Amino acid sequence: MSRKTIATLVQMKKEGEKITMLTSYDASFTRVLEAAGVDSILVGDSLGMVIQGEESTLPVSVDDMVYHTRCVARGRREALLIADMPFMSYSTPDQALHTASRLMKDGGAHMVKLEGGATQLETVRQLTMNGIPVCAHLGLQPQSVHKLGGYRVQGKDEETAREIKEDAMALEAAGAQMLVLECVPKMLAAEISRILTIPVIGIGAGVDCDGQVLVVYDMLGISSGRRPRFVKDFLPEAGSIPAAISAYVQAVKERRFPTEEHSFQ
Ligand code: KIV
Repeated sequence: MSRKTIATLVQMKKEGEKITMLTSYDASFTRVLEAAGVDSILVGDSLGMVIQGEESTLPVSVDDMVYHTRCVARGRREALLIADMPFMSYSTPDQALHTASRLMKDGGAHMVKLEGGATQLETVRQLTMNGIPVCAHLGLQPQSVHKLGGYRVQGKDEETAREIKEDAMALEAAGAQMLVLECVPKMLAAEISRILTIPVIGIGAGVDCDGQVLVVYDMLGISSGRRPRFVKDFLPEAGSIPAAISAYVQAVKERRFPTEEHSFQ
């Protein structure tokens, strides 16, 4: 058994090996992800939508996140386990420390993820100074859906693209050890992945990120509502859930996913 750490993923970036990540919310799915060799598992606050049936991620509580992280931790063997800090659980550095400590001590997470750029730098510093690894999240930030006016591609014009790039560099300088980039033009994501030394994991951000993440129910075609452009349903071709997850891992490793049809210009 070889447990994957952040250092493992940084080394994969250096060697040009694509990093695979999927969400999971329970022990059984986690075992299937482990069997397929997924490098990193995210307990996303997307659970608010795909597990709890809410319209957004906003109602998810810290208790919900701790519960699902604990379930996933029981099924985990080798993958790096990341847990989302839910909406309004990291409004101040002190509150973020409290939330992150629950996700790690009670949930068993190895790293926490938070959304936001310049406004989160102090929080990222506080967390990393206390030994808590941070994954940042830029581009489309689902917790800000009402501020953004919907789930839209971000960084399409020069000014917002520059802002995302500067935020990414500032977050790395503040101590973030990974970055998720959601729904940004593929050229912008490629440039940010090149500039940063930390792994950049894309979702709707093109094939040139260091790795890819999808919500597991989306890539099995069982999420409700319209399927976003960046999602591929791997189930019909593969025929079973374990085969679909393995097909995703292979496709990401071999740069066959995402294609142009799943990317934004
Ligand atoms: O909550 C989540 O599942 C996420 C991914 C979509 C990156 O943040």
